[in-house]
Amino acid sequence: MCCAILNLSLIIFWGDTIMIKLNISLGERSYPIYITADFNGLGKCCQSARLKGKVVVITDTNVDKYQSEQCIENLAEAGFEVIKYVIEAGEKNKNLKTVEEIYKFLISQKLDRHSTLMALGGGVVGDITGFAAATFLRGINFVQVPTSLLAQADSSVGGKVGVDLEGSKNIVGAFYQPKLVYINVNTLKTLPKRELQSGLAEIVKHGVIRDPDFLDYIDYNIKKIFNFDEDILKFMAKTNCQIKGNVVEQDEKESDLRAILNFGHTIGHAIESVYNFELLHGECVALGMVAASRLAYHLEMLEEDSVNKIVDVLRKIGLPIKLNGIKVDEVYNQMFHDKKIKDNKLVFVLPKAIGEVIQCNIDDEALLKKVIGGLGE
Ligand SMILES: NC(=O)c1ccc[n+]([C@@H]2O[C@H](COP(=O)([O-])OP(=O)(O)OC[C@H]3O[C@@H](n4cnc5c(N)ncnc54)[C@H](O)[C@@H]3O)[C@@H](O)[C@H]2O)c1
Ligand SMILES: [Zn+2]
Repeated sequence: MCCAILNLSLIIFWGDTIMIKLNISLGERSYPIYITADFNGLGKCCQSARLKGKVVVITDTNVDKYQSEQCIENLAEAGFEVIKYVIEAGEKNKNLKTVEEIYKFLISQKLDRHSTLMALGGGVVGDITGFAAATFLRGINFVQVPTSLLAQADSSVGGKVGVDLEGSKNIVGAFYQPKLVYINVNTLKTLPKRELQSGLAEIVKHGVIRDPDFLDYIDYNIKKIFNFDEDILKFMAKTNCQIKGNVVEQDEKESDLRAILNFGHTIGHAIESVYNFELLHGECVALGMVAASRLAYHLEMLEEDSVNKIVDVLRKIGLPIKLNGIKVDEVYNQMFHDKKIKDNKLVFVLPKAIGEVIQCNIDDEALLKKVIGGLGE
């Protein structure tokens, strides 16, 4: 193996396999993220994290069709005893019943404290598997192998795991960091296009909150992203993980800074609930970012050109930037049901410029309804 340092990340050569390696520094909970274009290095990466013995690969019915074979083959070649468990795809299965079924399966397979749960899938599989790993035998090894763009850019980094209960999203959960994250960007080739577009919303968010050059890069390379250009996808994954990882390193448990990752989410979550989860999360976040950017403009914090730029990138990706006939009052009222709300005050993450955001309490009902209503025009 040989290495070269590149922007706080390493390039690793293992035989024919070339990987980017990043490190998330969280003291004894630190872990590496590997970014590559196949599953050839997965077993070796698990070995270098000192994992051994049984690995239960948890995946869903969609991902299983396309991705599990090569993943499992490579783990088995590296000497792991691999067992697969497939859950039904979809957010409606992200609940305690699925977790209970996983626990029963793990007992039947005689898993011990040294065994590993590997999440092979999108954010739903990652959140459920991480929660099972955090709680089974009071915590066993956990590995993230994200296969959706949302999971590669966002949910697999940061250690938030959990499930939904009685209509409340992610209401039961834990902070539980994986031993490693392994991103194979080519898994995106089998992801439905609408899911790919939805994942790009979180990536635009990362550019707006932290990195104007990255937003330009996405804007310039949209066509190549949809053509699955490996170099572009790898650079994108690396930059996302660096931005999110850096925020998480400074504020692992969301006491302050980590909240900037909620840009676009205050209004976005409200739209998601009011429209009964018919729109994808990233689509709602896109609408939320449009509204939040316009809010910042009306508060004289953000230049009109910057608002236009954000809206334009989202439009080019094919994300919604308007919602005809938006239910303004319902969306406004729904914002007060967000679990992140404190003392009944709405907290918004607003850009002062592309790459710089601040958090503010806003209680101007007329202005908020104006920007929500603006999404319908
Ligand atoms: N833990 C966190 O920090 C965090 C952050 C953001 C979102 N989330 C959670 O993530 C979830 C959303 O994640 P998501 O958008 O990945 O949803 P998802 O896991 O439901 O995946 C979306 C769809 O794509 C399919 N899929 C995934 N990868 C595929 C592939 N390579 N090929 C073919 N099909 C594939 C899935 O089966 C599913 O149908 C939500 O539950 C959300 O709460 C968690
Ligand atoms: Zn989000």
